[in-house]
Amino acid sequence: MTEQVPRWASETFWKKTAIWVTGGSFVLLVILTFDSLSQITAGGSRVQAYGVINKDVSYRFDKAKQRYQPVIGGNAPLFGKTLSEEEAEKLVDLGKKTVQAKNCMNCHTLLGNGAYYAPDLTKAWLDQGWIAKESREQMMVDFLLDPEKNARTFGSNRKMPNLDITQPEAEAIVAFLKWMSTIDTNGFPHNFKAIGEEE
Ligand code: HEC
Repeated sequence: MTEQVPRWASETFWKKTAIWVTGGSFVLLVILTFDSLSQITAGGSRVQAYGVINKDVSYRFDKAKQRYQPVIGGNAPLFGKTLSEEEAEKLVDLGKKTVQAKNCMNCHTLLGNGAYYAPDLTKAWLDQGWIAKESREQMMVDFLLDPEKNARTFGSNRKMPNLDITQPEAEAIVAFLKWMSTIDTNGFPHNFKAIGEEE
């Protein structure tokens, strides 16, 4: 006489459950992958198209969302030159590749990735330190070309070394940093004080 096995203790029940859970997770993973791609692609919902470097960027607290958010304003072309979307993409790309080639992440973090020796660069374009001179981009280029002489030190007394960056590379890095500052990062980095914000 075989005993009646309760449903939750039967092998077929658990086999079927395993198949459904695996299948369901797989479908969820596919949906999340496409959702993430739409969020991280330039020109998508959170990451601006490269032409945004032609625009003014500010950083404001969104009361409804309870976090800071980049706000894209009117025309403010980088180095006074309006670029096409393709030209902007090429410039930002050169900046990104220079940042990779010079291994800036050895000291800095970008979007939170990298080392913690120097400040996070995600919102560096919006840093309050760049308002002393008329042209923010020129001040940044001067800093990148000769950081030892143009060091600003954020109370850390650490100095950035000279990395033999060329003028075109420095300009491209500034374009990359400006573009990156427009990414909606859910308020990361926390406690960042932007240009135009009250202390
Ligand atoms: C050896 C470590 C080191 C490396 C490598 C390095 N930096 Fe820095 N960087 C620093 C330090 C330290 C500071 C802050 C001190 C200062 O302002 O003088 C800084 C400051 C900066 C700032 C100003 C930050 C702000 O929020 O305004 C920018 C922009 C910057 N670095 C960009 C870069 C880029 C781009 C690279 C790669 C090409 C790079 N750094 C590589 C150490 C480094």
